[in-house]
Amino acid sequence: MKKILVTGGLGFIGSHTVVELQNEGFDVVIIDDLSNSSVDVLEGITSITGKIPLFEKLDLKEKSSVESFFQNHKDIVGVIHFAASKAVGESVEKPLDYYENNLNTLIYILKEVLNLNASNFIFSSSCTVYGQAEKMPITETAPIQAAESPYGNTKQIGEEIIRDTCNVKSELNAIALRYFNPIGAHPSAKIGELPIGVPQNLVPYITQTAAGLRACLSVFGNDYPTPDGTCIRDYIHVVDLAKAHVIALKRLVENKNASNFETFNIGTGVGSSVLEVINSFEKASGQSLNYKIAPRREGDVISAYAHTEKANTILGWKAQSSLDDAMQSAWDWEKHIRNI
Ligand code: WQD
Repeated sequence: MKKILVTGGLGFIGSHTVVELQNEGFDVVIIDDLSNSSVDVLEGITSITGKIPLFEKLDLKEKSSVESFFQNHKDIVGVIHFAASKAVGESVEKPLDYYENNLNTLIYILKEVLNLNASNFIFSSSCTVYGQAEKMPITETAPIQAAESPYGNTKQIGEEIIRDTCNVKSELNAIALRYFNPIGAHPSAKIGELPIGVPQNLVPYITQTAAGLRACLSVFGNDYPTPDGTCIRDYIHVVDLAKAHVIALKRLVENKNASNFETFNIGTGVGSSVLEVINSFEKASGQSLNYKIAPRREGDVISAYAHTEKANTILGWKAQSSLDDAMQSAWDWEKHIRNI
């Protein structure tokens, strides 16, 4: 079987991608430093697929550790690189930690990927590279705007590092997937999002409020120039997102890519407001959510949702799940981990 390295493979999107890779018959090895994940996730993955992925706890900031890992895994044919810090607010407080953890590690991994017989690389990028785009839906040719946070900047710089390397190393084949807002959990409710501490993102805050861990959800502003006054985002089911990674990886492994650096927006193409997400949750859970309107959150863009034609027609991927499906899976997962 073809061996794939998934860095950050015990994280939210990483773990769901490992499941889909195993379902497609790939042999998976995971690197994770467990800074924002739990080794228990391995059990969840195995309980879904019946296959135990190889796992190595490793700090990718240690160059020598990265080098020795690849010495022991020369048969890797592709790398999906999720490992990074991703809390926007935290990145403002700790910029050097973010640049070190998100960029040094990318450089060390890329250097090793170039030494492999097959240099296929999938990069976890983000719609944050677009900032507040002028036109909706957002296409891949929309201008890259000045990042709103060090986190967003690490995604922009990360793409540039890969692009510049691909320009001089034709043997490197890379795809950057620009995610919109990943939400939900595997339908088995055996893996899902495990935010540490107070959730920064909307959907885990909603489910934790409904589970009684949080008293009340604050809706950050209802005075935006949108139909109901709340911000609009493109919420994509994490399993759909995971499947996009497998399709992108196969595109490279099977040499079907059109150039050696491609970017794709991965979203549903549907924009949903915060109030619409709350409404979807209340339908899924059959219970009303305790929320209040609060002041706007610094750095929030008004609206962001994907133009999906390139991913649909060239990558051959399309989101299958609706917002309601995703919210139902998020609630099922929350009930599972809280034994509700
Ligand atoms: C969504 C909407 C909030 C929490 C972030 C990262 C982005 C990507 C996805 C990694 C906004 C509102 C939120 C709350 C609220 N991550 N909200 N109350 O900010 O669109 O994107 O996660 O790549 O890089 O920036 O997601 O879930 O934080 O917010 O009203 O308690 O929900 O104002 O309008 P965001 P989010």
